[in-house]
Order: sequence, then C-alpha cells, then structure tokens
Amino acid sequence: MYLTLLSIHSLIRWFVLAFLVYSIYRAFIGYSKNKSFSKVDNAFRHWTATMAHIQLMVGILLYTQSPIIKYFWKETKIGLQNLDLTFYGLIHIFLMLTSIVVLTIGSAKAKRKPTDKEKFKTMLLWYSIALLIIFIVIPWTFSPLSSRPNFRQF
Ligand code: HEM
Repeated sequence: MYLTLLSIHSLIRWFVLAFLVYSIYRAFIGYSKNKSFSKVDNAFRHWTATMAHIQLMVGILLYTQSPIIKYFWKETKIGLQNLDLTFYGLIHIFLMLTSIVVLTIGSAKAKRKPTDKEKFKTMLLWYSIALLIIFIVIPWTFSPLSSRPNFRQF
C-alpha cells in the first residue's frame, strides 16, 4: 500500500507539472495576444486544479501510511534535528498545501473575472506562484532539501 502510494504520488507530480506549465503558457499567450478565453483554456484551468487536488488526496493518504512520517511524529525531537524527516513531516506538507490553496483561489478567481484578458492575467499570476512553490518543494534528485528518484517502479 505504502510503496504503491509513493509510486503514484511520484508519477502524478509529472502530470501536475505538465498541466501547470501548459496552462501558464496558454495564459501568457492569451494575455499578451489579447485572445479570447476559449473552452480549451477553461478546460486547462479546471483540469490543472483537479490534477493538483488528486495529488493532494494521494499526498494525504501517503502521509498517514509513511513510516518516515510515523517516525517523525513519534520521535519529534530527533525528527526536528534531521532535515529529511522535517522536510516530509512539516515543510513538504505545509508548502504543498499552500501551493494548492493558491492554485485553487487562482482558478476560482479566473473563472469569475468578467473579461477574457482578466481571466488570462489572473491565471497567469496565481498559477505561476503555485508552480514556483511546487517546484521548490518537490524532492528533486538535485534538491538540497531532500533528494528522491524522478521515477519509481510499481
Ligand atoms: C502538487 C503537490 C505535490 C507534489 C508535486 C508532490 C510531490 C512529491 C514527490 C515527488 C515526492 C517523492 C516521492 C518519492 O519518494 O518517489 C513526495 C513525497 C511525499 N509527499 Fe508529496 N507532493 C505534493 C503534495 C503533497 C501533499 C499535499 C502531501 C501531504 C498531505 C504530501 C505528502 C508526501 C509525503 C508524506 C511524502 C514522502 C513519503 C515517504 O517518503 O514516506 N505531498 N511528494
């Protein structure tokens, strides 16, 4: 269960990133070229947020199953002295939750804006902030916070 969740969580990260980057690209082109906010733009706004929400659900499940998290909350004093444990116990969950809240607010605000230009601008701003946070908090192989493989086998 734990390893399957970990592999799923690792894989969905690529979907979240791909949706975010492409939505931001579309928002940038739409905004700078004064395009109309099409059904496809709206679908990407919606599905990017949905992808992040799926990752959030898997993340919460993983949080309840992970031996790293269990150890962190059992031995919190030792946990807080270890960057890898503190990263998954506190930093990763807190900042990822923040990024998903930012993304959700951005999606909801963009939906309600009266003009197409404002929709693109809102998406561009909020989705870019979310992407920045997510990029920093992913445990890339090169991350100084915690390093994990880019792909896991099932
Ligand atoms: C867009 C949001 C998120 C992304 C892109 C993301 C990405 C990742 C990645 C790439 C890993 C490393 C997986 C591996 O070792 O192969 C990871 C680990 C982990 N994530 Fe997330 N995550 C996100 C949100 C969350 C949230 C919201 C939670 C908790 C509620 C969470 C909980 C965890 C836990 C507990 C681990 C480590 C589990 C372990 O090694 O035992 N993640 N995450």
